[in-house]
Amino acid sequence: MDENMPKHVAIIMDGNGRWATMRGKKRSEGHLEGSKTLKKLALHILKKGVKILSVFAFSTENFKRSDEEVEYLMNLLVEYFKKELKLFNKYNIKVLISGRREKLREDVLEAIDKIQKETQNNDGGILNICLNYGGQEEIIDASKKIANDYKNGKLKLEELDKESFSKYLYNDLEPIDLLIRTSGELRISNFMLFQLAYSELYFTNTYFPDFKEKEFDIALEDYQKRIRRFGGV
Ligand code: IPE
Ligand code: IPE
Ligand code: MG
Repeated sequence: MDENMPKHVAIIMDGNGRWATMRGKKRSEGHLEGSKTLKKLALHILKKGVKILSVFAFSTENFKRSDEEVEYLMNLLVEYFKKELKLFNKYNIKVLISGRREKLREDVLEAIDKIQKETQNNDGGILNICLNYGGQEEIIDASKKIANDYKNGKLKLEELDKESFSKYLYNDLEPIDLLIRTSGELRISNFMLFQLAYSELYFTNTYFPDFKEKEFDIALEDYQKRIRRFGGV
């Protein structure tokens, strides 16, 4: 395994709406194009030897959007899970979903359960899709589970450290090495706050539908030139 290869890459897939508006299309067309980009990009990134790819598909805050846009995005996700199940199994990719179940439609929950169950034994890389996800919410939800386990005598407070805390998150994943955000916005927008602690950050002006394999390779090259210090010298 290449020492210089990030183990965990995360992408805030932003700019679908602007990609579409710029072309005189509806925002939904940008989301559709973004989903096509993700399909190819995920295979490319995991094939390169990255173990985990986390992507931000829908934030807890995205429910503020119009009913029409939320419905379109939910339909797109359900369709994506149904359509790409074969592909994930063909490439031995395990799909995980991170986020709150509450507020999600029944058919979305069913699709989530099915894709996770039917890819659970794959070990050729993990695609972690963050859906109805918020980083603060994840930490709050973990804290509630911790309080419960403490109350029931299942956890001693002295035992709590970074590793054991991480087990209470939606999925127990390694820290993020490289975070990419497309579309020129320079913010985290409540994405994986716990896992991002020491990530290298890469921002590009490219809108997500146009963020193709070649551009990922440029981001990777940039990452591989960096010196990570983790507080040392
Ligand atoms: C990212 O693109 C996809 C989601 C948030 C679901 P946007 O929809 O945020 O696109 P912009 O930022 O409005 O261009
Ligand atoms: C973050 O993008 C969420 C996703 C990419 C799914 P937003 O477009 O929702 O973030 P803000 O509102 O610009 O911070
Ligand atoms: Mg956006």
